[in-house]
Amino acid sequence: MQIGREINRGKTKTIYETDLKDKLVIEFRDDATAFNALKHQRLARKGMVNNYFNAFIMEKLAAKGILNHFESRLNDTQSLVKRLDMIKLECVVRNIAAGSLCKRLGIELGYNFETPLFEFFYKDDALGDPLVTVEHALAFGWANAQELATMRELTFAVNTVLKSLFADAGILLVDYKLEFGRFHGELFLGDEFTPDGCRIWDAKTRQIFDKDRFRQDLGDVIENYEIAAKRLGITYPAAAQTT
Ligand code: TMP
Ligand code: ASP
Repeated sequence: MQIGREINRGKTKTIYETDLKDKLVIEFRDDATAFNALKHQRLARKGMVNNYFNAFIMEKLAAKGILNHFESRLNDTQSLVKRLDMIKLECVVRNIAAGSLCKRLGIELGYNFETPLFEFFYKDDALGDPLVTVEHALAFGWANAQELATMRELTFAVNTVLKSLFADAGILLVDYKLEFGRFHGELFLGDEFTPDGCRIWDAKTRQIFDKDRFRQDLGDVIENYEIAAKRLGITYPAAAQTT
């Protein structure tokens, strides 16, 4: 397999074409951004940790029958994935209230949802990724009703798998964001699942292991991603590990 030209440079990942039809390479960089790129920093080892983290989670999801774009990890920072036609919606499930929900509705941080809460956001940095409804998505043709229903279902299915996977590692899955795309008439989970796009807390102490450490200047960002990775049994080359 030959890596071809760069087709997209996102805030934290670069996407390359390959000589394989339908396959792309995603490269996790050391860039960290928040608040729609208003805050930016480079954090050593981030690309590698996220590449291994994502590969581990995507393989667990595939094993439970959740179709996703991940094919294989190529090296420390790059993975081979299916080329999806991405839908410009972000699917969020919240088990515990945090982040924008607390601000938007005045809900107290840590409020436990009896039933997980689902939200769609429109993926547009310039607009600040606004909350949208199914009606907006239909009106503007971002996805059809069947696709929206499937995205919602799959996002909840991911919750069932990951809540228990994280619980076994003593970690609370607070919330997370997923993105989906079309591939030969079917919906596949795309993008990534890493501590950049979820909130994960120690089940006992509620220590934060995710990107809120970066957003809130809590320090030791990657060290905490690695605590979660280690607890989940994610391994990567010892020379690159901090502990
Ligand atoms: P929020 O509290 O900012 O709405 O985010 C909810 C969860 O989804 C949190 O784990 C972060 C993730 N998320 C992203 O990673 N990128 C996004 O653009 C959005 C809207 C949420
Ligand atoms: N949409 C925001 C961003 O990508 C979410 C965050 O603050 O992390 O920067």
